[in-house]
Amino acid sequence: MKEFKRYLVTSALPYANGPVHIGHLAGVYIPSDIYVRYLRLRGKDVVWVCGSDEHGVPITIKARTEGVTPQDIVDKYNAMIKDSFAKLGISFDIYSRTTSPVHAETASAFFRTLYDKGEFTEQTTMQYYDEEAKTFLADRYVMGTCPHCQNERAYGDQCEKCGSTLNPTNLINPRSTITGSAPVMRETTHWYLPLDRHEAFLREWILEGHKEWKANVYGQCKSWLDLGLQPRAVSRDLDWGIPVPVEGAEGKVLYVWFDAPIGYISATKELTPDWEKYWKDPETKMVHFIGKDNIVFHCIVFPAMLWAHGDFILPENVPANEFLNLESDKISTSRNWAVWLHEYLEEFPGKQDVLRYVLCANAPETKDNDFTWRDFQARNNNELVAVLGNFVNRALVLTGKYFDGVVPAAGQLTDHDRDVLAEMPQLRRSLEENIENYRFREALKDAMSFARLGNKYLADTEPWKVYKENPARVATILNVSLQITANLAVAIEPFMPFTAEKILAMLALSKPAWERLGEQDLITAGHKIGTAELLFEKIEDSVIELQLQKLADTRKVNTENSKDAVVEPQKGSIAFDDFGRMDIRVATVMAAEKIAKTKKLLKLKIDTGFDKREIVSGIAEYYSPEELIGRQVLVLVNLEPRELKGVLSQGMILMAQDPATGRLALMSPDSKIGPGAVVK
Ligand code: 2FM
Ligand code: ZN
Repeated sequence: MKEFKRYLVTSALPYANGPVHIGHLAGVYIPSDIYVRYLRLRGKDVVWVCGSDEHGVPITIKARTEGVTPQDIVDKYNAMIKDSFAKLGISFDIYSRTTSPVHAETASAFFRTLYDKGEFTEQTTMQYYDEEAKTFLADRYVMGTCPHCQNERAYGDQCEKCGSTLNPTNLINPRSTITGSAPVMRETTHWYLPLDRHEAFLREWILEGHKEWKANVYGQCKSWLDLGLQPRAVSRDLDWGIPVPVEGAEGKVLYVWFDAPIGYISATKELTPDWEKYWKDPETKMVHFIGKDNIVFHCIVFPAMLWAHGDFILPENVPANEFLNLESDKISTSRNWAVWLHEYLEEFPGKQDVLRYVLCANAPETKDNDFTWRDFQARNNNELVAVLGNFVNRALVLTGKYFDGVVPAAGQLTDHDRDVLAEMPQLRRSLEENIENYRFREALKDAMSFARLGNKYLADTEPWKVYKENPARVATILNVSLQITANLAVAIEPFMPFTAEKILAMLALSKPAWERLGEQDLITAGHKIGTAELLFEKIEDSVIELQLQKLADTRKVNTENSKDAVVEPQKGSIAFDDFGRMDIRVATVMAAEKIAKTKKLLKLKIDTGFDKREIVSGIAEYYSPEELIGRQVLVLVNLEPRELKGVLSQGMILMAQDPATGRLALMSPDSKIGPGAVVK
C-alpha cells in the first residue's frame, strides 16, 4: 500500500435543517471519528473537516414551514448539531458552515475558474414555475408521482420510496409544494457541468484505478458510468445560496451540490493557513466519509469539478456506508422516525460510549442494518457490562484487595500466561489492518478481544481461589491482567474514548503511546493504581420499554396523519360491460419462489380451477414464498400474457395498496371457496 505523507479526511456536511440522528452517526460520523482518532494515535499528519450544509431547498422549505427565515433555521440547527457532535466526542478539527464568508469566496472563485476555463455549458430549458408564488420551482419545491414506483409523494430531485434520482419534469401530476398549485413551464438559463466530457477520465480513474473501493461504492459508480453521464446543472433559480458570480445571473445561485463539497476546502482554509498542502499535494491521502445517497456526488461530480479546476488532488477512497434502519423501518426526519442524538444525550447521560459502541458494532458497512432498542440493551448488558466492565473491574478490585492497589511484580510466567500475552500483538495487527481498510466493525471486535482475553484469563486462572495457597502466583496473574487492562485502554480509544480515559484514570496511568500497544509492560510493578469504579451499568427493561413506547407513540401519530394521506382520486366511470370483460377468479397458490436478481418479484404457480399457470407478481417485499403456498387469491385471468424476467406471466394477482405506506396487501375470499369461483 502506498505510504502518504498526510491525510485529509472529510465527513459529509449535514444539512442544517434538522438534528443529527443515529443513521447519520452509524453511517458517517462514528466511522470517520474512529479512523481519525486512530491516525492521530499513530502520529500521522491529519486534518479532519466537517460543517453544516446550509444552502439549498431543504433549508428554505424548513424555513417556510416554520415561518422563519432560512438564516434562523441554519443558525438554530448548526449550533445544535455542533454541540451534540462535541458531546458525543466526535473530534473534528473544524466544524464550519457553508454560510461562512470564506466559503462564499471560495465557492465563487471555484465557479469562476471553471467558468473562465470554459468548463461549463449554458443551456436554456423549460422549467416549472409557480405563477402564484412567482418563483421557479427547483428540486424539492415540486412534488408528484414517481414514474418508477408510483409513489405520489416523490420530490423533484428524488423519490424517497424507491431511491430513484429524478428531475422535476419526470414527475407525473406535478404540484408546487409552496402553493399546491399545478406549475407551468417557463424558460430559464443555467450553467451545466458537462460530465459527459469527463466520462473517459472517470472510467479510467475509478473502474481501473480504484478497484479496491468498497463493492457498494464501486458498483454504484459503475452503474452511473455504464448508463452514460449527462451534463448537470450547477445553478438554480433561488433566493437562498451563493450568487452565481457571473454578470447577468441575477436571481440565480450555485446549486447546493456544487457549493457543499467545496465546503470541505473552505473549512480547511479556515482551519489552517497551510491548507493548500492538504488539497494540492499528491502526497496527501484524501478520504471522504459519506452515506450511500451521496456516492455519485463524491465519486463522480466533485472529482469532475476538482479535475476540471486542475489544481486539486482527488479522493483516494470514499468508504460510503449503507443505511441504518430503526426497528425495521426506514429512518425518516419528516416522520420523526429516528433516535435523535441530542435527545439520547439528555436521556442517557454519561452513556456516549454505549451509543458509539452499538452503532459501530452494528454499522451498515456492507448492507442496510437495523438498530433496535433490544439489541442496544443486549450489547450494553452482555458485552460492555459483562465483558469489558467486568474484566476491568475484577482486575482492579482484586489488585486493591490483595495488594493494596500496588501493581505486583510478575513471577515466573506459565506457558498459559505467555500464550495469553502473545495474543496482544496479533490483535493489534488485525485491528490496524481492519481500520486501515475501513472495516470498523471487525476492528471493534479486535479491540473488544483484549477484554475477552482478560476476562477468560481471569476465569481460567481464578486468582480468588488461589490466593490463600499461593499469593505469589496471584501476583503474576494480576500483573498480567493489569497489562491487558492497560493495553485494552489503548486499543479501545478510537472507538470509546470516554471509557479509555476512565480506565487510564483508574489505573492512574498516563496514556501509553499507540506504538506500545501489544507490549507486556505498559504498567510497572510498584505503581499505585487508583480506585475502581464501574465503567458501565446494566440497562433495565423499563428504560428500553420507555424508548419503545416513544416510538409506538410516533407510529400512532404517523398513522393518524396518514389518514388524510393522498388517497387516489376516483377514476372516470366505465360501462358495466367494461367491468364484465374482466375475468376475475379465485385461485390457489401451489408454488412460489423468488425470481433471482430482483427484490420485488415472485414466480407463483396457481390453480385456477380450470388450468394451472404461472404468474409473476411484485409482492416479494411483503410476502415470503412460504406464506403464500396454499393461500387463495384473486386473479385477473384474462389479462394478456406478458413476459417478465424470462417468465411468461399469465394474469395478475389482485392487491390493494396502502395510500400512506405503499404496502401491498393480497385480496382473498373471507372463507374457503372452490378454485375457479368467478368474482362478480
Ligand atoms: O446528504 C446530505 O445530507 C448533504 N448535506 C451532504 C453534503 S456532503 C458535502 F458534499 F458537502
Ligand atoms: Zn419511486
